[in-house]
Amino acid sequence: MTDAKACLTDWSTRIETVLTDALTAQLTASRLLEAARYSVLGGGKRLRPKLVYAGALAAGGSLDAADSAAIAVELLHTYSLIHDDLPAMDDDALRRGQPTVHVAYDEATAILAGDALQALAFQVLSRSDGRDSDTVVRQMHLLGEAVGFNGMALGQAIDLESEGARLGLDALESMHRKKTGALITASILMGAATGRCDDDEWLALTRAGEAIGLAFQIQDDILDETASTDIMGKPQGRDRVLEKSTFPSLMGLHESQARARQLVATAHQALGQLKGDTTVLMQLATDAVERTH
Ligand code: IPE
Ligand code: IPE
Ligand code: MG
Ligand code: MG
Ligand code: MG
Repeated sequence: MTDAKACLTDWSTRIETVLTDALTAQLTASRLLEAARYSVLGGGKRLRPKLVYAGALAAGGSLDAADSAAIAVELLHTYSLIHDDLPAMDDDALRRGQPTVHVAYDEATAILAGDALQALAFQVLSRSDGRDSDTVVRQMHLLGEAVGFNGMALGQAIDLESEGARLGLDALESMHRKKTGALITASILMGAATGRCDDDEWLALTRAGEAIGLAFQIQDDILDETASTDIMGKPQGRDRVLEKSTFPSLMGLHESQARARQLVATAHQALGQLKGDTTVLMQLATDAVERTH
């Protein structure tokens, strides 16, 4: 059986290497690139690339074939953080323990760094590294679908429109599934696309991804209330200040924690239906709610 913790440690090193390479290769030196590197290489848990590799492992794919997707999801995610922190959005000054990009550089640079990172994510996905073209197209489709008009961008739009309003639980859950869950689910599936799984297994991975994604955002909401700025590396208590609808604000801390744990159980159950090695995915599902930052 795979040692999940050892695997995740190895992958952490691998992720830093492939990300650094992607932000060096054939890119023109500029202040814009410097801002992007500052943001991407400035820390972060790297959950999404880990989910890519874990999805590949579960479907019998190879890590080499999963590298492009691992890079792509982290570049895309980092773009979303840079934009999420902008004055027009959550207006935050701290991210990953350092000043946000619009503070360290300027607002226009932050917008453009996000734009360019999103483009680079798809460029990296399209590179030829031995994946067959069906896999490349499938991964690009999964990523595009997850982050655009039906996914992350829509979720973020709803999040901002809903400031000061009290969303119902169904609407809140739907927003979370879009703004955070969709990319998390896509990360697992993009990894799995490098291997083989039948329709039932694909569906089980999708269900697991959706449960992990929602649990992850519930925990993010919980930490915004309970953790410290120092530990999170981002400002604590902003959801309350911005009058966001969050799980704790709607159902209280205790119920939110129970809901998150229930979702992890759902993810574990779905993963139990796969024939492949799901040890690391199981661990990442647990970590999604047991994390402290
Ligand atoms: C923060 O994501 C934004 C959410 C979608 C909740 P992460 O908690 O994964 O942030 P990093 O990448 O570790 O900084
Ligand atoms: C951000 O959600 C989701 C995306 C970046 C898509 P939050 O606004 O809650 O994330 P944090 O708490 O600032 O990391
Ligand atoms: Mg936000
Ligand atoms: Mg935010
Ligand atoms: Mg948050």
